[in-house]
Formats: sequence, C-alpha cells, structure tokens
Amino acid sequence: MDETLLAVIREAGQEHVLKFRDELSPGERSRFEDQLAAVNWRELPQLAAEYVLRRPDTAIPDDLAPADFFPLEPRDAAMRELYARAEARGEELLRAGKVCCLTVAGGQGTRLGFDGPKGTYPIGPATGRTLFSYFAGSVARAQEKYGRTLLWFIMTSPINREATEEYFQKEGFFGLDPEQVFFFTQGTMPAFGHDGKLLLSAKDSLSLSPDGHGGTLRALRVSGALDRMAAAGCEYLSYFQVDNPLVPVVYPRFIGLHALEGAEMSAIMLSKTGPKEKLGNFCVSGGRVRIIEYSDLPEALAEKRNPDGTLAFIAGSPAIHVISRAFVEKLTAGGTLKLPWHRADKKIAALDESGNVTAPAEPNGVKLETFIFDAMPLAEKVVILEGDRQELFAPTKNAVGVDSAESCRRMLTARNARRLRAAGVEIPLRPDGTPDAVIEISPRLVLDDADAGELVRKTGLRAVLPGEVVAL
Ligand code: UTP
Repeated sequence: MDETLLAVIREAGQEHVLKFRDELSPGERSRFEDQLAAVNWRELPQLAAEYVLRRPDTAIPDDLAPADFFPLEPRDAAMRELYARAEARGEELLRAGKVCCLTVAGGQGTRLGFDGPKGTYPIGPATGRTLFSYFAGSVARAQEKYGRTLLWFIMTSPINREATEEYFQKEGFFGLDPEQVFFFTQGTMPAFGHDGKLLLSAKDSLSLSPDGHGGTLRALRVSGALDRMAAAGCEYLSYFQVDNPLVPVVYPRFIGLHALEGAEMSAIMLSKTGPKEKLGNFCVSGGRVRIIEYSDLPEALAEKRNPDGTLAFIAGSPAIHVISRAFVEKLTAGGTLKLPWHRADKKIAALDESGNVTAPAEPNGVKLETFIFDAMPLAEKVVILEGDRQELFAPTKNAVGVDSAESCRRMLTARNARRLRAAGVEIPLRPDGTPDAVIEISPRLVLDDADAGELVRKTGLRAVLPGEVVAL
C-alpha cells in the first residue's frame, strides 16, 4: 500500500479501516485502495470533532429576519407589468436556447423504501408512469413549445448512475435525443460511527453515501457539465428535485424575473401551511438570503406573527431554483468552494469487530451532506418568487402519509381536474370537494393550462364520470 496514503490514514486516526486488508484478494485490495485514495483524510479529524462527536448548533444571527419575496399575485400595476415582462423574457430565453434543466437524482430515497433509482418510481395515478417519464415528457413538450432543444442534466450518485442510465436506454430516452440528456455523478462522503471512526460497509469498502444536493455544484464542474452548458450557450439552470412530478421543468415567469433582476441564484417560495411545516425557511441576515431548516428555526420565530395575523416567517422552500451558470462557474473556480456540512443521524448497516455486517435497530452513525440552498448566501442577488403550491409542489418522500406517493398522486389528479374544469370539463366531486375520479394527463401533451385547453378542444371531452380512471 502507498506509504503516503497509509500515513495520512494513520494521522487521521482511522487506521481501523484497514483491519481486514490481509483477507482481501489482490483485486479487492487494489479497488479498496483506490477508494481510500479518493477520501480527503486531512479534513476528517476536524469534521468528526465539529459534526460527529458533538451536535453542531445552527447559530441563529440576531438580525435574522424574513426574506422579501415577489408575491404570487402582483401587488400593483407596476408589479403586474414586471411579471408580464418577466414572462416574455423567460419565453424569449427559452426560444434562444439559453436555459437548460437540471434534475438532482442522486439521493438514496431511503424513506420511500423503493428498490432502484427514485426517478424510476411509478407515480402516475392512472398509468403508473415514472417520475423520470414525467420530466422527460415535460422537457419534450417544452422544447416543442419554444422551438429549441432543451438540454437536460441529471445528477446521479455512484450508487444509482448505472441503473439510471440503463433505465433511460430501456425506455429509449422517452423519445428525447440521447445527446440532449447528460448524466453526471456527484461525490460521496464516508459515514462515521458516533465515536468519530469511519464505518465499513464491507471488508473492502468504506460506507459511502452521496454528499448531498450541495454536491451538485462541484459535480457540475468536474463532470464537464458546465463546459457542455457553455458550449451550448446555456446561461440559466432550471433546478428541480427528482421527487416532485408537479414541478414545471421550465417556468418562464421565474426564469425571466431572475434574468431581469440580474440574480445569481433564485428560488420559488411557498406560503407555509403552519409554523411547523417541514420546509426550509427563507430568511435574511447581514443582507444575505439564507435558508434556516424548520428544525433549526427557534420556536419564537416560527410562531411570530405579523399584525395581520399571518406568519412572519411565512416563506418555505420547495427546492425549486434558477441558477445562473456564471454563478456556478464563479463558485467552483479554483476548487475552494466549501458549503457547510449538515449532520443526519442514520441507521447504517456496517461491519462489526469480527467482520460481520449488522443492521442496527437504532441510529448508529452520522452521514454528512451539503445542501444546494447554502449557496444562496454566496449570491450577490437572489430573487424569491411565490409559487402556487397546488400547481407545482407534491414531493414524494414517503410511501404513505404526508409528502408521500399517495398524497402526490392525489395532487396530480387534483391539478389535472382543475385544468380540465378550467377548460370546461365537468368534474365529479366528493363531499369534501376533492375530485371523485383518478385523472392523469400526459406531460408530453400538457405543460400548462393553455395546453390543457387545447387537449380538451381536440378530444371533445365534456365530462369525467364519478369513480372514473382517466388517462389522457
Ligand atoms: P432528499 O433530501 O429528500 O433525500 O433529497 P432522498 O435521498 O431523496 O431521500 P431520503 O432522505 O433518503 O428518504 C432531495 C432531492 O435531492 C436529491 C434527491 O435525489 C432528491 O431529488 N439528492 C439528495 C441528491 O441528488 N444527492 C444527494 O446526495 C441527496
């Protein structure tokens, strides 16, 4: 084994990871050494001290205040005019090929408990079309609408890259040109035991997990994705998560406002449903926009009300962003970008002293991740635009319950019902006002309300029957 590597591992106090090295075949040993060589051993002691051996507190600055945002409904004529200009600008940028899509799909989706990349999860309420199929359909429809190829960048992890690519191959890229879809892989971080020692997942492997969606920025650079965007003339990245099939893959008003205001990174906000809703909170401190996680926002601030009774910290984040390519170039130039780490206590199957894998019943270790929203304080200018929750946010985090596949399917049906009703179709309702039907509309056909109107006109659909399962 390389002496320098051995020395840094020792210096980091992590020599135990080599315990089973003598039992490995030459091939296993060489692969393991490659993996070990990729770890930044020098930063580990400090990370362990700061995030593992003690619980890091998120410092809440004294000047923390709610961040300003552009409301969903324009407040006055000037704002109405600005929104109209923003929409026109967004559409113009799309027609000029200045926008690309970026989906982060490197997460492990542990809460959903689905075997395979989360993007391959069947979410369509009538047909079971997958999350990736939703986005692919929307990308295809958007590029048809704006008459310009829309590049689509998909971030995977080393764990799901192969399965993700195979899935796209199997589906024939959903009719997209394979050249317009660019997969790239994020980095990993080794998991720690609560004693600050790294965990092994096998005798020849550390327990590695994706380094969080904050890893997107560095991965965009090292994978060559940024260069590809630059070569294609893309200036704006439309960023969304793989678990939200309601998201507009491109949102002209949002993109246009970001561009008109000269922002570096922008965000959609939703009005929180209550003080404790599990969304990050848009705040401002020292003139910089930042997100404070729901678990970190002090109770007094979470509960604070405006004179009209609304929550002071009303703005929650659904993780939908527009990011300027130039901003990512700037942040990642020189390779010194450091986003803060966030600690998550997890149950991590790991090798015990005698080399057997045990699956713990209780959290036994710590995973560290960085978050994309921590780039916002680094931006000179951030635009926050209110979005309509019913139209754009239904995260699939769990199998059932809140933010689940179930609730997501209901919201897909509800949005489709709304769009059809707006186009004159009669929709049966249950006593609680929700649609008494399951309605799925192909994203390949309908990107927005205008498309839905057109579809209704073409199909001549007049009414959905009670209990009917409709796939358009
Ligand atoms: P979540 O934080 O919801 O995590 O990711 P997850 O991995 O999907 O699910 P759990 O927590 O294990 O149940 C939000 C988005 O960020 C992406 C996910 O794929 C999802 O689109 N993500 C998360 C990454 O791309 N990389 C990561 O390292 C973490």
